[in-house]
Amino acid sequence: MKKVMGIETSCDETAVAIVTEDKQVLANLVLSQEEHRAFGGVVPEIAARAHLNHIDQLVKEALVKSGLGFKDLDAIAVTAGPGLIGGVLVGVMTAKAISAVHNVPLVAVNHLEGHALTVRLTEDVPFPYLLLLVSGGHCQLLIVEGAGKYQRLGTTLDDAAGEAFDKTAKLLGLGYPGGPAVEKMAKECVDPPRALKNFPLPTPLVGREGCDFSFSGLKTAVKRIVDGLPENIERRDAADICCSFQHSVAKVINDRTEQALKKYLSLCPQQKNPALVVAGGVAANQMLRQGLEELGVKYHIRFVAPPLTLCTDNAAMIAWAGMERLLLGMTDPLDFPVYPRWPLDPDAVAVKKH
Ligand code: KG4
Ligand code: ZN
Repeated sequence: MKKVMGIETSCDETAVAIVTEDKQVLANLVLSQEEHRAFGGVVPEIAARAHLNHIDQLVKEALVKSGLGFKDLDAIAVTAGPGLIGGVLVGVMTAKAISAVHNVPLVAVNHLEGHALTVRLTEDVPFPYLLLLVSGGHCQLLIVEGAGKYQRLGTTLDDAAGEAFDKTAKLLGLGYPGGPAVEKMAKECVDPPRALKNFPLPTPLVGREGCDFSFSGLKTAVKRIVDGLPENIERRDAADICCSFQHSVAKVINDRTEQALKKYLSLCPQQKNPALVVAGGVAANQMLRQGLEELGVKYHIRFVAPPLTLCTDNAAMIAWAGMERLLLGMTDPLDFPVYPRWPLDPDAVAVKKH
């Protein structure tokens, strides 16, 4: 039974996990850095230093928790990008050191591939499936054909969905990370129709051709509303704005995903068990999940979302992506580089960033 250790340090989570070939998660340690709260966003240099302070201890703890030694590992998988390069380097140098000293094969994992394949750690989902990847840095629709094989159907033209949540939270003074705060506040809204009427927000690209996203107009619209309110926004208004905002995001994501679903079904007629999979931190949002579930029902296809703890950044997803690669013989040499940018589908046409 093969065992792979995963290391994730590309953003503000220092994480180490160990998974087995038969999908047991022996350890899954995630340390969310609190140091960034005061800044309302992740500060790259602070993140890199915090990773350095914690990574060795987490590696040790993961081994103790699994009852394993370095020699029991069949590979060590590490996020080699995309992400904040200082943090990525901390994880990669740690993995390379372990590999060199203990002679354990290395697997360089794309963070996005970690999100894309997580679902196969907890469920039997055959390739090809349609993936909606919605996180703080990414918003994409992809056909996942296998490890390293992706076809991008759509991406964001400006902000990622998580970024829009985070910026809205910041404008309303709800703190960081914004997604969970906005969702919690939206739940306080007692009259959603009133919220949508009093604080109408746009739904960019809805009804248009293609599967791309855009969220910057939504963010600007929230700012305009907030600017027109007194400095100390009433809690009721904040709840209504969050409710309206969440409705708009869900509507955009649903519309774009529906377009992609139609494309996926026509491009993959041979797939007898088609599935729509959601991944990334924003996938923790209940309203969003519900909308996607309804889409699955409408098109008679399976909708699958990984458990919440595996949706946000973690190392079990990196370990699992490493396992899928290891089983295909896809290991990497000790001198593999790190990638600040690393698209899953390098053939996809680049979008114009505003
Ligand atoms: O995948 P992730 O943990 O990190 C990367 O960006 O790679 O995603 C983090 C993003 C943040 O923008 C956070 O605000 C958002 O996911 N998020 C949510 C929720 N939980 C986390 N957005 C909406 N609703 C949530 N419940
Ligand atoms: Zn992520």
